[in-house]
Amino acid sequence: MTQGPLTTEAGAPVADNQNSETAGVGGPVLVQDQLLLEKLAHFNRERIPERVVHARGAGAYGTFTVTADVTGYTRAKFLSEVGKQTEVFVRFSTVAGSLGAADAVRDPRGFAVKFYTEEGNYDLVGNNTPVFFIKDAIKFPDFIHTQKRDPYTGSQEPDNVWDFWSLSPESTHQVTWLFGDRGIPASYRHMDGFGSHTFQWNNEAGEVFWVKYHFKTDQGIKCLTQEEADLLAGKDPDSHQRDLREAIERGEYPSWTVYVQIMPAAEAATYRFNPFDLTKVWPHGDYPLIEIGRMELNRNPRNIFAEVEQSVFSPAHFVPGIGPSPDKMLQGRLFAYGDAHRYRVGVNADQLPVNRPHATEARTHGRDGFLYDGRHGGAKNYEPNSFGGPLQTNRPLWQPFDGFTAGTGNHAAPVHAEDDDFVQAGNLYRLMSEEEKERLVGNLAGSLAKVSREDVVERAVDNFRQADADFGKRLENAVRALRG
Ligand code: HEM
Repeated sequence: MTQGPLTTEAGAPVADNQNSETAGVGGPVLVQDQLLLEKLAHFNRERIPERVVHARGAGAYGTFTVTADVTGYTRAKFLSEVGKQTEVFVRFSTVAGSLGAADAVRDPRGFAVKFYTEEGNYDLVGNNTPVFFIKDAIKFPDFIHTQKRDPYTGSQEPDNVWDFWSLSPESTHQVTWLFGDRGIPASYRHMDGFGSHTFQWNNEAGEVFWVKYHFKTDQGIKCLTQEEADLLAGKDPDSHQRDLREAIERGEYPSWTVYVQIMPAAEAATYRFNPFDLTKVWPHGDYPLIEIGRMELNRNPRNIFAEVEQSVFSPAHFVPGIGPSPDKMLQGRLFAYGDAHRYRVGVNADQLPVNRPHATEARTHGRDGFLYDGRHGGAKNYEPNSFGGPLQTNRPLWQPFDGFTAGTGNHAAPVHAEDDDFVQAGNLYRLMSEEEKERLVGNLAGSLAKVSREDVVERAVDNFRQADADFGKRLENAVRALRG
């Protein structure tokens, strides 16, 4: 801020910021005290709606550096050369808690990355888990209702959480993940990130590849036990946010090595799992991790509201060479985020400093609306025009999908040879050491034992039984022991 006297919002010097104006000493306050009215009115409007999910988070800027030649797979310019650097802004978050909630909770963590590329911003809006609870966007609002506060009690209710999970067996894999050792990261720096969905890459020749992104933390994975988290959440609700900011202030820049799994398009139809099913991973034995880059965070935002609260990320923000897959969850998300941004931040959200392209400019014919800054000046606001305005390229960002048959309808995604809702949850359980299994069962039982209805408990245990008989049996015993 420049030097000079305190002013009103219109820039006029303020004479007295301690005493409002009254009719005589001890008399009522005057409407002509515009400073008082302006201060009260602005204050009333300080909040914008919090994100409906992922309300609580922290962000930082940094750099993505390409470390491998991927031009055979994608024509995205920011990935076109080894050594090439792109500015990023990353926002980490928890999912279920509202803005004032504590950080140290058992919950997935959001891992949203905005790449400010020369071809526009590319947003990868992922989580710290490779899979998700559901596989169709139509179930998302119901799912989130069970994670948020109950309409009657006003609290998060284990009854609702477990009722929904037990009735949605496709959640078994993600729930096994969430209640395992990685379910409560010690900080945002000590966790991996995943794009989770399958995305399309396409190269100059128009060949298509399906990819999954993995960000492996260079700090090492560190997690909290339930007991440690319970203590920390009470003592320091801002633990994750503080940790990230202070690490960057100390010059200890957190970084992640970025990998992809790549599936040639022709292999998708016959792969043993539906490659577009968000409740499944692609085992690394089938599609190994290929290192492509490194992401470092090295600059804190200067103003949390402007740069973190008002930051917006959209899975629909693609650049040439990258696009969606037919994953039904991802398809739903392509709509949901832009809609949320227009509601939460406004129709010009994409033009705020943190959100607008940094390495190119947005050249649209969209105009006006709340808080429009007039950046287009007198340029024509329609196209085609004869006045030299920007033109379409005739080249889509991604290649068209093909191979779909049958009529429209409310179709479930196709089932592949080894698909069922439990196979990968069972595989994950069987990979765990004895101690890990014990902690997983203990965490699950601790939560499940709070459910009031026996039929919900039984149905939930049965899902884990189907994943692995031993898993189900141990969980049943642990819940019985706790419920008495
Ligand atoms: C169909 C399913 C989903 C829907 C409808 C949905 C919807 C939303 C909405 C409306 C927001 C708030 C956006 C805002 O106000 O700026 C949000 C935030 C977020 N979602 Fe989703 N979501 C879905 C699934 C997922 C999945 C599967 C992931 C991760 C793989 C994910 C990761 C995130 C993240 C990281 C944020 C926070 C972004 C930020 O930091 O601003 N969501 N989601």
